[in-house]
Amino acid sequence: MKIAIIGGGPAGLYAAILLRKQRPEAEVTVYERNRADDTFGFGVVFSDATLDNFEKYDSPSYRRITEEFAYWDDIAVHFRGTVHRVGGNGFCGCSRRKLLLILQERARELGVALMFQADIEDEARFADADLVVLADGINSRFRDKYVEHFEPEVDVRSNMFAWMGSTRPLDAFTFIFQETEWGPFIAHAYQYEVGRSTWIFETDPETFERAGLKGLTEKQSADRMAKIFGWFLEGHPLLTNRSMWRNFPMIRSKRWVKDNMVLLGDAKATAHFSIGSGTKLAMEDAIALADAMHRAPTIESALQQYEAGRREEVEKTQHAADVSLVWFEHVDRFWDFDPVQFAFGVMTRAKAITYDNLMLRAPDFVAEVDRAFARQVHSRGLEVDTEKPLPPMFQPLRLREMTLANRTVVSPMCMYSAEEGVPGDFHLVHYGSRAIGGAGLIFTEMTCVSRDARITPGCAGLWNDAQEAAWHRIVDFVHANSAAKIGLQLGHAGRKGATKLMWDGMDRPLEEGGWDVVSASPIPYFPDSRVPREMDRAAMDTVKAAFVAAAQRGERCGFDMLELHCAHGYLLASFISPLTNQRLDAYGGPLENRLRFPLEVFEALREVWPARKPMSVRISATDWAEGGITGDDAVEIARAFARAGVDLVDVSTGQTVRDAQPVYGRMFQTPFSEQVRNEARVATMCVGNITTSDQVNTILAAGRADLVALGRPHLVDPSFTLKAAAWYGASDVSCPPQYLPGKDQVFRNSVRDRQDLDDLKIKAKPKTRAELKSEATKPLAAE
Ligand SMILES: Cc1cc2nc3c(=O)[nH]c(=O)nc-3n(C[C@H](O)[C@H](O)[C@H](O)COP(=O)(O)OP(=O)(O)OC[C@H]3O[C@@H](n4cnc5c(N)ncnc54)[C@H](O)[C@@H]3O)c2cc1C
Ligand SMILES: Cc1cc2nc3c(=O)[nH]c(=O)nc-3n(C[C@H](O)[C@H](O)[C@H](O)COP(=O)(O)O)c2cc1C
Repeated sequence: MKIAIIGGGPAGLYAAILLRKQRPEAEVTVYERNRADDTFGFGVVFSDATLDNFEKYDSPSYRRITEEFAYWDDIAVHFRGTVHRVGGNGFCGCSRRKLLLILQERARELGVALMFQADIEDEARFADADLVVLADGINSRFRDKYVEHFEPEVDVRSNMFAWMGSTRPLDAFTFIFQETEWGPFIAHAYQYEVGRSTWIFETDPETFERAGLKGLTEKQSADRMAKIFGWFLEGHPLLTNRSMWRNFPMIRSKRWVKDNMVLLGDAKATAHFSIGSGTKLAMEDAIALADAMHRAPTIESALQQYEAGRREEVEKTQHAADVSLVWFEHVDRFWDFDPVQFAFGVMTRAKAITYDNLMLRAPDFVAEVDRAFARQVHSRGLEVDTEKPLPPMFQPLRLREMTLANRTVVSPMCMYSAEEGVPGDFHLVHYGSRAIGGAGLIFTEMTCVSRDARITPGCAGLWNDAQEAAWHRIVDFVHANSAAKIGLQLGHAGRKGATKLMWDGMDRPLEEGGWDVVSASPIPYFPDSRVPREMDRAAMDTVKAAFVAAAQRGERCGFDMLELHCAHGYLLASFISPLTNQRLDAYGGPLENRLRFPLEVFEALREVWPARKPMSVRISATDWAEGGITGDDAVEIARAFARAGVDLVDVSTGQTVRDAQPVYGRMFQTPFSEQVRNEARVATMCVGNITTSDQVNTILAAGRADLVALGRPHLVDPSFTLKAAAWYGASDVSCPPQYLPGKDQVFRNSVRDRQDLDDLKIKAKPKTRAELKSEATKPLAAE
């Protein structure tokens, strides 16, 4: 067998080693355009888990690599004169040059032919090869040559970055966030061998421009960086090696295989340097290719298996890298945060590290985070313990004169079970049990302001006395039996009205008994949905009056809070999104116009809703569709409602148009809440695939939202908050006297269960290499 490998970076060399090991009879040749020891970059970083993998696949190179490595366990965050360190991370650094020399040496030992200064222009010269590996890096000539086949998507990010080196020793993976007269600069730095560290500098394009970095030589820009970070470099120089400033390209390729050619490493996909995964991904690609070649009967099927088996893992890493790079691109959102909250945000930015996880590894850091959070609550006039505070989830929140006992919310959820809009016994039990379950706030389902404002025949309403009496009974029950507050969500279905009950066909038009629907523009939801009537001014006045009348009834019922539903493609949302609003009058066109009617309704409600009671608005912060609302629009929408007096923006997404492409995942809508909260400077509630109290605490502690709503988790577990309170020892969570024995028991058991789980987690976690190394070098204790 003949294998040609284009590119002698980590991907190409490691693939050569593993393939030649597997097939000693094969002719394996690596073609590298540079000389053997000519390489850019300084150090590379691997996690302990990646090294475990290397050990398994090729122990001789693993041993040599690890002999050369620098280990560290801590991440240190320097921000505004503070430093926060968190241990237990288990990373290793090594010189990229040494890594490549080790891999070259090992490849040679195994009989791989290494051809340096061989710049391959055309793969046709490998016509007799059985397999051609394209490991030619980020600017892959061959990916470009077959661009129509591989279909790479290249997303060039806005921040500028440059790799440099230094002799400054470091004992932690170090992030330095530095304010300058031009704007913020960030250094990502780590040691990779004695006396050598990698420094990646990053800044936004405006700061780059203001700092005059454009057009400077490598040396001049290194001098500028040395000046900015001089206080930390302590006289150590910055070293350069092709250290040009550039933009990071996030590359994803639709296909990785063409005939007998396969893309590996950066050529196929990139991951932002802030999670240190570039070299890891490249070498793990080589492992995946070798595995597939081992298992599959033919090269063709091996390449298919490689792509099919590896894609999910690569995309997961890319997603984590993406989330991380977005955090760094928007660091200004957090610049005025308390430094410990800022550091918590850095640690938890990519979802893998959470509040509970940090509690195990760095309890003092989490205690400091909790104290900072409690101090913020205290500074807003709420009496809370700031010395030994409860976790963020159990901190109160005040909105106008309403104080919530904790930060968990039952999200508004239609039950499709009302008779002529009247909530019945099901609703009393449903809302009652969730209130008793301990949430700080429960929202009603979307409650419709008129009969023809309903989504389905089962939707609840508040346009007549019978409905008012039924809601009054529910509100009274909640107030009499729990500490929960209850908010009323008012809405109008618009073009999504006159549809079937959820379990009969969500959003599908009623076949019988439907009614006329209205919207911003006459565009049906499904092609076979009813065509809505475009609202004229008279219709707007009627709808506004219906909202006002329902709010007045809501006040008589005793609701504590009012939410205006402007999300999910319903009537008011249909005005906001350009995908559903194609009006040519003063209510269509630019966002300012599209917001006019929703704001008018909001203002009319604010006028009749008591000043002491808060109001929120639910928005879809993105339509997840081309040409629709984006996160930046959501910031403008939030600002407009804030000017009109909104107290909280409830940040949801989507459901505007049928062909949307939402990107689901854990806490998938939280980035929008984070953006709205920290750019528009308004309190937010986030929601969407948040399922654990650990996630609730992580979101709140990092300043990504002020309240966290859970929908589906509350459908199966009304006592979500009570159980979380037991877990975290928040003993003053409300519980009716009838249930106290149950509360006592769950609190007692939780202490033990939590201890057992923590012990298990600690036992199950292998020691990091840094821990093992430091144990090995510790002097023996005197007997
Ligand atoms: C300027 C820069 C500095 C970096 N520094 C670091 C760092 O310090 N630490 C770190 O962890 N990561 C660093 N990275 C990222 C890291 O290099 C990659 O993620 C990782 O090396 C990917 O491995 P690879 O084998 O896929 O590609 P590469 O390492 O890029 O290797 C591709 C190889 O193919 C060769 N090649 C390209 N075209 C041809 C051709 N036509 N014919 C023959 N040979 C060809 C190239 O010369 C190169 O050696 C850096 C990236 C850049 C752009
Ligand atoms: C059965 C059901 C009904 C819903 N009804 C409403 C509603 O009336 N108003 C609303 O704003 N959102 C509604 N939603 C959306 C939820 O409030 C929430 O945003 C969504 O379920 C995502 O949160 P989760 O992942 O915690 O479930 C509904 C969701 C479900 C599952």
